[in-house]
Amino acid sequence: MSLKNYHDTVQENDTVILYLGYDNMHAIKIKRGSVFQTKYGALRHNNIIGTTYGSRVQCPKGYLYVLYPTPELWTSNLPHRTQILYTTDISMVSFQLDLKPGAVVVESGTGSASLSHSIIRSILPDGHLYTFEFHQERAQKAEEEFKDHGLADYVTVTHKDVCQFGFDLENVADAVFLDLPVPWDALPSAKKALKKQGGRICSFSPCIEQVQKSCACLAELGFEEISTMECLVRNYDVRTINLPNPDFSKENKKSQPHRKNKKPDEEETMDTTPLNETSEETPQSEEADSCNSKDKQTSEELDTPAWDYIGKKTAANFSFKAGISLGRMPGHTGYLTFATLYPI
Ligand SMILES: C[S@@+](CC[C@H](N)C(=O)[O-])C[C@H]1O[C@@H](n2cnc3c(N)ncnc32)[C@H](O)[C@@H]1O
Repeated sequence: MSLKNYHDTVQENDTVILYLGYDNMHAIKIKRGSVFQTKYGALRHNNIIGTTYGSRVQCPKGYLYVLYPTPELWTSNLPHRTQILYTTDISMVSFQLDLKPGAVVVESGTGSASLSHSIIRSILPDGHLYTFEFHQERAQKAEEEFKDHGLADYVTVTHKDVCQFGFDLENVADAVFLDLPVPWDALPSAKKALKKQGGRICSFSPCIEQVQKSCACLAELGFEEISTMECLVRNYDVRTINLPNPDFSKENKKSQPHRKNKKPDEEETMDTTPLNETSEETPQSEEADSCNSKDKQTSEELDTPAWDYIGKKTAANFSFKAGISLGRMPGHTGYLTFATLYPI
């Protein structure tokens, strides 16, 4: 991997991502003569040296794609030495810390260096990342990975307990990022590391009690615009919705109850009654039969607008594909607390 010098074809010593499916990817280092076993059989490294990134490679029992390793793909495939930050949070961190080419960033702990790779990509070609880790083996492993990925010039890894001994940096950083169990102990030193012109700070914590303590400490140290957010992925389910065609004939009108006689909560039910979703597997005939049933729907789903549809009209109804957001969004990893230090 070299995030700085992108190249089109696979070369020896490259780290590449083998894509066998959305949830079946592997990061491997290309070595002439080596073989990697996949569920589609053996992949000879020699066979992919020289192929263009993104191309399809045939294995004995199927094919895969060879992808160039972006920080996002690295985050999905890296060896976990700790819990890591995922792309959802990383994108918010990069945006809120205003990371850009030339920025100097201080980070602790390094952990599995998932976030570090994205930070480095954002601050290239003349920025620098100072990353601190108190677990010696993790610090060493991260350093080896950066070297392996052609990033060693843009990052300094220090093996150190930043809560006890601080960063020992003064007036250098545009941004500081903390992923520590007791971030408040590192905050005074983080403040010192920020440039005199000011800068942004972010602390990632899984528990709200940690957030409360960090916010209090940030305020005490003179940070402003303190705000905490949680990033969750919003999944959309593709479903078929059946909407019965309205019948405006006089006979039908008479048999319908008058809207004004309805209680407010009943009226809401009546408005949504025609809407019916069926799962992708439901055969067409069953879909038509279940026009007025509301079995699988939740009120949240009914409230959701259909963004994208390909309609199909029959005599009985109009059916269309819709992206339905799920009522609940699981996936809490932690809270991101951001703050600004203004020039004194
Ligand atoms: C959850 S991991 C960080 C993961 C990282 N953000 C990533 O995306 O891969 C937290 C790391 O902080 C380190 N750590 C905890 N306390 C520390 C301290 N006082 N000084 C330096 N590192 C510390 C731990 O050893 C651990 O590796």
